[in-house]
Amino acid sequence: MSSDAIRITRAANKKDKPKDKDLAFGNVFTDHMFVADFQEEKGWYDPRVEPYGPFPLDPATAVLHYGQSLFEGLKAFRGANGTIRLFRPQKHVERLNRTATRMTIPQLDPELILRSWTTLVDVDRDWVPSSVGTSLYIRPTIIASEPFLGVRPAKEYLYYVILSPVGPYYPEGLAPTKIKVIDNYVRAVAGGLGEAKTSANYAASLYAAEEAKHEGFTQVLWLDGVHRKYIDEVGTMNIMVKIGDEIITPPLTGTILPGVTRDSTLALLRKWGLTVSERQVSIDEVVEAHGRGTLEEVWGTGTAAVISPVGELAYKGKKMVINGGRIGPLTQRLYDSIVAIQYGQAPDPDGWTLTI
Ligand SMILES: Cc1ncc(COP(=O)(O)O)c(C=O)c1O
Repeated sequence: MSSDAIRITRAANKKDKPKDKDLAFGNVFTDHMFVADFQEEKGWYDPRVEPYGPFPLDPATAVLHYGQSLFEGLKAFRGANGTIRLFRPQKHVERLNRTATRMTIPQLDPELILRSWTTLVDVDRDWVPSSVGTSLYIRPTIIASEPFLGVRPAKEYLYYVILSPVGPYYPEGLAPTKIKVIDNYVRAVAGGLGEAKTSANYAASLYAAEEAKHEGFTQVLWLDGVHRKYIDEVGTMNIMVKIGDEIITPPLTGTILPGVTRDSTLALLRKWGLTVSERQVSIDEVVEAHGRGTLEEVWGTGTAAVISPVGELAYKGKKMVINGGRIGPLTQRLYDSIVAIQYGQAPDPDGWTLTI
């Protein structure tokens, strides 16, 4: 279907656009969306851009009962001269199709996925905000749309893409977060869905995250589901800790999402000649390092916030303040370096951005 023409139906009425300074995260949507359908006998068909709007869904629609779905999240950035760039879209295409396989959802042609994003962003290009720190969030989604009760893969699917102009993910911006390390709930176990970008993982995370928020924390740090000992992810971000000269991040062993920002961060750190380990790191090792004064920096990586400094970790009632609760120099350098590439303010030697 990659050679199919994408049909474009433009919205008759355009919505008012928010001012850059009023942008929050995920509460405003643009004028158009991309849609394609799947039926067993036809494959994926009728790729189209149409006015943003609700879908009529039969109450028996499979996704509403069994959660067979996936999504992605990437961003378009407007540079100073107006150029619009996607950040590492190819990586998101690959992850979308990997999640599809895990969720027994039929894969889409990679070229069509990419064209769905570039075409839609182009149609709604006036919606890409321009202040640094703002961007147009792209949310591709697939849902099992067959009206059917019974646990088996659906025979019909809906692929759609919506766009949302966004400001900072955390209202506090790049301010260091307060994180609760939890061992009474787990997010994922190896062999489960942890490495797939599917709604079930987020549903599984809500209760623990709400509990932590009520206690005054920004998010939780998940430990592994078996030993409840090794650090996994922080909220919906990958985690990195700097202990002495070593930067450590958990390996991709099936429980954590293979983050595109994680991959970009590791590439930069290696390019800068720093010592990077993808290895298990126990919470006890982190506590000990803090005790010795060698836990220098901790940060999360993810599309929404890019790099998010952790200023405080709480574990078993003990509070560990990191770098005096301030953003560390390496965390700041990573944030600045990635943001500069995203907005076209720095060279992009590895071709991470795609201009639209
Ligand atoms: C659970 C989880 N981990 C990590 C990430 C970071 O991934 P990426 O850098 O691709 O945005 C995300 C999503 O953004 C996520 O939802």
